[in-house]
Amino acid sequence: MNMRIKNKRRGTTPLSETQMAAGSPSLVPPVASRLTSSTPTRGLFKPLSLMLKSPLYRTFATNNRASSATATVETRPGTNLSENEANGKKQVLACPICHDMLIWNGDPVFSVDSTPMSSLKCSTCRKAYSGNETHLDLTLTSGSQKYSEYRPASSEIFRSPLVSFLYERGWRQAFSIWGGFPGPEREFEMMKDYLKPVIGGSIIDASCASGLFSRLFAKSGLFSLVVALDFSESMLKQCYDYIKQEENIFQENLILVRADIARLPFASSSIDAVHAGAALHCWPSPSAGVAEISRILRPGGVFVATTYIVDGPYSLIPFLSPLRQNIGQISGSHIYLSERELKDLCSTCGLVDYTCVRNRRFVMISARKPN
Ligand SMILES: C[S@@+](CC[C@H](N)C(=O)[O-])C[C@H]1O[C@@H](n2cnc3c(N)ncnc32)[C@H](O)[C@@H]1O
Repeated sequence: MNMRIKNKRRGTTPLSETQMAAGSPSLVPPVASRLTSSTPTRGLFKPLSLMLKSPLYRTFATNNRASSATATVETRPGTNLSENEANGKKQVLACPICHDMLIWNGDPVFSVDSTPMSSLKCSTCRKAYSGNETHLDLTLTSGSQKYSEYRPASSEIFRSPLVSFLYERGWRQAFSIWGGFPGPEREFEMMKDYLKPVIGGSIIDASCASGLFSRLFAKSGLFSLVVALDFSESMLKQCYDYIKQEENIFQENLILVRADIARLPFASSSIDAVHAGAALHCWPSPSAGVAEISRILRPGGVFVATTYIVDGPYSLIPFLSPLRQNIGQISGSHIYLSERELKDLCSTCGLVDYTCVRNRRFVMISARKPN
């Protein structure tokens, strides 16, 4: 594949040999274990981590979900490491209405199974949030009884259970044929280069759909927290089912969250990286989405995304430029006609050091929040 790299990225930290090896899940233990291996709590963490994964603990956690739903988790000096770590992670979540801290009631384990069963309340507006068996719902309309909203077709189509079922069964593969998308494994390898400076941190797989990248992030062990986020309930259900089918996924550091990209439920400057695969063109307002990503990224945090650009011979299509506005208004989908538009989008939303790699219509872009 002949890729074109447009701009050179600056200010990245070179990877150590161990980090390089981290590309292979079989070679590297999950980040949580690796991160703590050099701390004085090393001896304490490993048995705890093993205990949390044991079938006995899982049975205990499942049996206690109902009763633990009323136990508020506090951070106290002397609390064991896993509880402190869990609380630290939970503080990244924020009310999507006021962006203030959420008070957690529930299981202190931050994982695929326990997080959706938790209930949360905003410390300011007091709105309560909860989840179902697969994900935590942190949309503005979460919990509404009568009120519902409809999004443009480019968003609504992915809420269909049929599209969610088909997504990894042919739908996504079609992107390679018409657009030059290299495919999830290759795209994951490519983006790891951009993510080097934030390895060990938290990553949001924004608009994760059925979780093809969320699973790769979780399996890689490169991140201390992976958030699989999408607006579509049925995509998140499909994502949950795939996670349950795969055996080698570290589920303790992975959570599934329903949220709107234009109103993200995370504290400002709290997240190390955001990935958005093949999604920018589907968002009702890409600028609202990228601005939110810019808000939640910590200084130096990385945004990496893929989409497609209709340029080259396609730019000769008559009236494409005026027509795309009409197409966009009807479908909600955004057609990018040049790389400069994407660079502009990032910089107007406060991101710097834009880079871009092309393969036919496919483009992978990256940018970061200034330090
Ligand atoms: C084409 S899929 C991309 C999936 C995946 N990331 C990939 O690389 O194949 C686009 C996704 O964007 C999601 N989406 C659309 N509007 C959204 C919004 N407002 N907030 C969050 N996600 C949204 C859809 O539900 C869908 O799962």
